[in-house]
Amino acid sequence: MFDKSKRGYPQFRRTHPFIWCLAIICSLICIAVIVSGAAVFIGYMVMHPRIPILSVANATLGTMRYSQDGLLETQMTIIIRAENDNTKAHASFSDTGFILSFQGLVIAKLVADPFDVEKNSSIYFNYEVTSDEIPLDSARRHQVDLSLKERVITFDFKGDSRTQWRVWLLGSVKFWCHLDCQLRFHTSNGTYISSGCTSKTK
Ligand SMILES: *[C@@H]1O[C@H](CO)[C@@H](O)[C@H](O)[C@H]1NC(C)=O
Ligand SMILES: *[C@@H]1O[C@H](CO)[C@@H](O)[C@H](O)[C@H]1NC(C)=O
Ligand SMILES: *[C@@H]1O[C@H](CO)[C@@H](O)[C@H](O)[C@H]1NC(C)=O
Repeated sequence: MFDKSKRGYPQFRRTHPFIWCLAIICSLICIAVIVSGAAVFIGYMVMHPRIPILSVANATLGTMRYSQDGLLETQMTIIIRAENDNTKAHASFSDTGFILSFQGLVIAKLVADPFDVEKNSSIYFNYEVTSDEIPLDSARRHQVDLSLKERVITFDFKGDSRTQWRVWLLGSVKFWCHLDCQLRFHTSNGTYISSGCTSKTK
């Protein structure tokens, strides 16, 4: 009995090689985590990654014909700005699409082919919308009458785009930009009333 415990005591003290291995592996993993954390932090500080921004730069309501039998015909130009504030990475935009509507009635669907924006720059693209005569129901006719009286008409403009840009050591970052805007125009001259519509999250 006594013998057994005497033999067992040193055995208990000796650390098993397996435990040593585990300890070394754990330490290595810890170091790797710290180093990669520092690398990401430095990468972040060096790159200042910025989420690319979509916004409505300007718009013009051209002709807007509204007949007494409730047919609406519009012509509109919408200028979209795609902005890349990253100074060290170009950004690419894909799956870009927008819907222009009036009181829930879709007037036009707009899409863009994938495009790139160089580092620290922005590009503009124009959408020319020419709708056919769209028949309006009585509620929407009423809304148009009201708009003409108030001399301001409001359209909804919604859409999104998938952006992607590279951040040093972090790899490629993907982000969906969403636009959800109201485009308001003076009915007298078609001038856009700027509302600072942007995908930027505040
Ligand atoms: C928007 O476009 C109109 C007409 O094209 C122009 O008069 C106006 O100055 C533009 N506004 C801005 C902010 O660029
Ligand atoms: C980014 O562009 C702005 C003007 O568009 C310029 O003033 C600035 O110096 C540029 N930054 C870099 C890092 O190129
Ligand atoms: C358009 O008309 C509105 C008032 O209806 C006016 O405030 C605005 O200055 C006009 N814009 C231009 C470019 O004439």
